[in-house]
Amino acid sequence: MDKAPGSSGFGIDVGGSGIKGAPVDLDRGALAAERVRIATPQPATPDAVCDVVAQVLEQAGAPGGTFGLTLPAVVMHGVVRTAANIDDAWIGTDVVALVEERTGRRPAVVNDADAAGVAEARYGAARDIPGTVLVLTLGTGIGSALLLDGRLVPNTELGHLELDGAVAEQQASDSARDREGLSWQQWASRVERYLRLVDRLLWPDLVVLGGGVSKKSDKWLHLLDVRPPLRPAALRNEAGIIGAALLAAGKSARRG
Ligand code: BGC
Repeated sequence: MDKAPGSSGFGIDVGGSGIKGAPVDLDRGALAAERVRIATPQPATPDAVCDVVAQVLEQAGAPGGTFGLTLPAVVMHGVVRTAANIDDAWIGTDVVALVEERTGRRPAVVNDADAAGVAEARYGAARDIPGTVLVLTLGTGIGSALLLDGRLVPNTELGHLELDGAVAEQQASDSARDREGLSWQQWASRVERYLRLVDRLLWPDLVVLGGGVSKKSDKWLHLLDVRPPLRPAALRNEAGIIGAALLAAGKSARRG
């Protein structure tokens, strides 16, 4: 249920290079203060990351109580199940218990793309769009969030579908573009094949494309020729923080 106007939350987004947190204005779907960013420790073990999460909360002056936390992994009932782009030690970790032990606060832990997806559905590019919406984050990997009438189906992990004989995110993520020095056209043709694959499975009403590369969508979005309508993400780098805070506050992605 929606809270009264003036509601706020706190979100932390754990990424491959930085751990970012900020208070979030849940009425506007925007950061309520500048975010705190601390480099992701290497190796990014659960203990090391939880220490940084505690520092982010402290430096940002986060209020007591619950907060939202994203991880680039399948998270089921607070337990991490996969580790494609994070340290293997995460698998089987009860993150809720570990973070609570370190910080004294109980987080709501969610997959990073799922957090971005609920934020886009509530405040951003998929706001007020009924039906099946797919939000894809093109970054180090490919994250996916599937929403039906604004409600999330968690942990879809569509970046791990097989594309051209390999894991899709190894072919069509933004990091694959970087690693292989692909032109926008070359990369877009891979993304296009990936979108066609996903479309054959889900027939979404709308696909929102996010991740850091969505900032440069003028360079590649027009190169994609696919059936579903496409939109660049609206909330960009802040979608994870905002979505995590929203989920922690127990709000649905649907406007109330
Ligand atoms: C992970 C997903 C994550 C995505 C984006 C993938 O490798 O399996 O859980 O959402 O990367 O970070």
